[in-house]
Amino acid sequence: MSWGLNNRLNRVLPGLANGTGSVMFAIDHGYFMGPTSGLENPKDTIVPLLSYGDSLMLARGILQSCIPQDCSLPIVLRVSSGNSILNEDMSNEELCVSTEDAIRLNVSAVAFSIYVGAEYEHQTLVEFSKLINEAHRYGIPVLAVTAVGKQMNRDLRYLSLASRIAAELGADIIKTYYCEDFSRLVNVCHVPVVIAGGKKIPEADALQLAYNAVSDGASGVDMGRNIFQAESPVDMIQAVRSVVVEGVSPKEAYKKYKSALK
Ligand code: 5RP
Repeated sequence: MSWGLNNRLNRVLPGLANGTGSVMFAIDHGYFMGPTSGLENPKDTIVPLLSYGDSLMLARGILQSCIPQDCSLPIVLRVSSGNSILNEDMSNEELCVSTEDAIRLNVSAVAFSIYVGAEYEHQTLVEFSKLINEAHRYGIPVLAVTAVGKQMNRDLRYLSLASRIAAELGADIIKTYYCEDFSRLVNVCHVPVVIAGGKKIPEADALQLAYNAVSDGASGVDMGRNIFQAESPVDMIQAVRSVVVEGVSPKEAYKKYKSALK
């Protein structure tokens, strides 16, 4: 691994260096969900949260139009797209942002979705591999967002299949969902694994989810809706951070979150 790639990876996941988790903050939802609740006006709602994340995952347009140019947070740029929530099968994605543009945007990593077991599995895996060829030439780490086919459960069997495939193809970070026996998934991937938060759940449950994931070996979270759709996003990202980075118990973090709301 080149020094540049390693350096970028450690900026995206600073916890790797000191054995803690890291907080990646994901706001890329609009690339297939449109004006997602909580992200209607990212400039107002997201900018106050930036100082509490370790890195920010988003799509090109929002980066260019909503994120201040003096932002020092490492950027993880979504480079796959090609479908919307209106489609039955959402796997028809391709590489849509060049590595040249990613470099121009000064990103620290790029993110691409693979859809294992879905109609366009082959296309996404081949495009993903080609992205790795290109991004690694310039020392840019690649994060694999592992989606599984619609008919498959998000359980250990399918999520570890997708995650291990991504690792075998050369991913530098795997993003997947938490599942039962999650430590077994982490153990079959030789690169850092982070979890998505998924749909909004009660704040106490989201903190427990983050805690379970890190306890089971995740290198952190790449969380979106459970932060920006929380009753108080700025308090929630701090609560998530306390659990993931500082090892505070989810109960304690929730207590602090609740008292900050008053
Ligand atoms: C969409 C993504 C999102 O970034 C991801 O799902 C994280 O957000 P959330 O915590 O809201 O699930 O990769 O494909």
